[in-house]
Amino acid sequence: MQAKNLVRIFLPLLILWLAACGPKSIVVPRAEKKTVEVPAKATFVGDEACKPCHAAEFTSHRAGRHKLSLFDTTKSALGTMTPPEGETESSFALQSIEDQLTVMIRLPQQTERNEVPLSLAIGSGKSGMTYMIFGKSLSAVLGQSYFPSEKKWHATPGQEDVPKNQPGGIYNTEKTRECLRCHVVTLPPNSMVPEKRFYGIGCESCHGEGSRHAALMQNQSKSANIGLRSLIGMGGKEMNTLCGRCHQTTEMVLKMDKKYQKSTNRFQPYGLSLSKCFLKSNNTLTCSTCHNPHQNAETDPKHYEAVCVDCHSGVSKAKKACPVNPKEKCVSCHMPSRAVFPNTAVTTKMADHFIRIYKNLPP
Ligand code: HEC
Ligand code: HEC
Ligand code: HEC
Ligand code: HEC
Ligand code: HEC
Ligand code: HEC
Ligand code: HEC
Repeated sequence: MQAKNLVRIFLPLLILWLAACGPKSIVVPRAEKKTVEVPAKATFVGDEACKPCHAAEFTSHRAGRHKLSLFDTTKSALGTMTPPEGETESSFALQSIEDQLTVMIRLPQQTERNEVPLSLAIGSGKSGMTYMIFGKSLSAVLGQSYFPSEKKWHATPGQEDVPKNQPGGIYNTEKTRECLRCHVVTLPPNSMVPEKRFYGIGCESCHGEGSRHAALMQNQSKSANIGLRSLIGMGGKEMNTLCGRCHQTTEMVLKMDKKYQKSTNRFQPYGLSLSKCFLKSNNTLTCSTCHNPHQNAETDPKHYEAVCVDCHSGVSKAKKACPVNPKEKCVSCHMPSRAVFPNTAVTTKMADHFIRIYKNLPP
């Protein structure tokens, strides 16, 4: 096709596309119109407060694993991800009292096993779910986690060395809060028990406390100061910091044991920050170039190939085209998935975010 024809076909498409990306007008639903008091200081309010005005983001986020990263330990909450009742390879047996899951377990300072209710299940179940028991000021993070897709229990990652006759990690309140901090929006002061509206990663985990914004927008839908982080147009480094609070920044990884420096698949902001694509793109390559932060990661490789080819089309000399395959399958060669917990029974794999040329692809 001649260049002139391409322009004729693509220019109108481009204009349409740009128009679609222009500022959206967010309308406060008529039924909700009432004037409310604007708080001086923003606090967390929970996702439900955003729903009336941002229904699209609310609906896709609610169905995603960010939101679904923490559950009550009831059969009705866990549905098909409920573990089967019976002994596990650890010291405990799973049981239930009506809807509530319980375990027969010997906790520290007890001489025999007792039936105790489980308190929370961490994880969406994409790979594994870890169960917690809350006491007054201590918690137990069970040494075996359930992997719903395999219907199997495996040692909880990081607890492989905990003896089988022990329940698992015993944490004080502070350490429990530290454990939960990436799986909840916020915790009440000095407590390890999250409020239900703050289960999982919510809107405010990324956008910040929303009460002021919600009130300002309720009263006047246009304002110079929207009282919240927009995040649109954020640079790559800044987004690495935002997402890296949980997915781990370079700074955080360099403070860990040296072996984690190879975990460019598990710690995406760290991995991405080492890539030439990232380093030579003037801060324009961000997590949201490839991911919609309100949805799960796309599993169709074509989605990502389109992003790669967008830069590596061969048009710009600064961004080369691939001499091996300039059109497709980029991810399998340059961002291969590999095991997150090598040398354990857990088979979870994640895509290497250090985009590079491999001499030998991982198995
Ligand atoms: C009463 C309606 C209303 C509620 C409730 C509300 N918003 Fe908004 N929001 C708006 C409007 C209107 C705008 C556009 C403001 C502007 O551009 O001047 C907006 C803008 C935003 C933006 C920036 C989008 C952009 O284009 O830059 C984000 C992010 C956002 N809201 C998130 C939230 C979150 C999170 C909550 C819940 C804590 C929330 N909103 C609650 C009405 C609302
Ligand atoms: C610094 C943030 C952070 C902390 C603290 C944290 N996690 Fe996570 N967790 C993550 C992220 C990010 C993922 C997504 C997968 C990954 O990156 O490994 C995850 C995934 C998981 C999963 C797997 C979910 C699935 O279905 O695949 C489980 C289970 C889990 N975490 C349990 C825990 C437990 C138990 C603790 C406390 C002892 C904890 N996490 C502390 C960030 C954190
Ligand atoms: C994991 C982090 C994260 C979470 C959770 C999250 N957002 Fe966002 N949101 C972002 C980022 C990043 C952007 C900017 C995306 C971009 O670069 O276009 C954004 C953009 C937006 C926008 C502007 C969209 C547009 O294109 O005009 C709105 C509105 C918004 N978010 C609302 C919400 C609401 C409501 C929730 C909860 C239901 C939520 N967000 C949850 C990270 C997040
Ligand atoms: C925002 C633009 C951009 C995007 C998107 C992008 N890259 Fe790059 N990439 C670059 C730049 C700039 C370089 C450095 C110049 C060069 O080598 O072409 C680079 C370099 C590379 C290199 C050479 C690395 C090395 O160490 O020599 C590979 C391989 C690569 N990119 C693959 C990909 C793949 C695969 C994707 C999609 C998953 C992708 N890139 C997405 C801009 C981008
Ligand atoms: C408050 C902590 C937190 C923040 C901030 C956060 N994430 Fe996550 N993210 C997680 C956890 C935890 C999981 C694993 C959820 C699960 O499966 O249980 C996850 C999972 C994901 C997934 C995988 C979803 C899937 O398909 O399995 C993607 C993609 C992702 N996050 C991208 C982002 C991006 C992009 C940002 C920044 C805009 C971000 N996250 C910010 C905690 C966070
Ligand atoms: C079968 C594996 C494979 C596939 C598929 C593949 N590549 Fe490559 N790519 C390579 C290898 C190997 C090299 C190194 C070639 C060399 O040095 O001669 C390379 C080199 C590159 C380079 C560096 C070019 C340079 O001149 O420095 C870029 C950029 C790149 N690939 C991007 C991509 C993109 C984008 C895609 C998808 C459209 C892709 N690759 C698909 C294996 C692959
Ligand atoms: C150049 C494209 C690209 C960029 C930029 C990118 N990702 Fe990814 N991401 C991918 C691909 C490809 C996958 C694998 C999707 C699949 O098939 O499940 C993935 C998967 C993930 C997953 C799920 C784990 C897995 O591998 O299945 C998480 C979490 C994630 N990305 C977080 C991030 C974060 C955080 C950032 C920003 C620091 C980011 N990604 C930037 C391409 C990208």
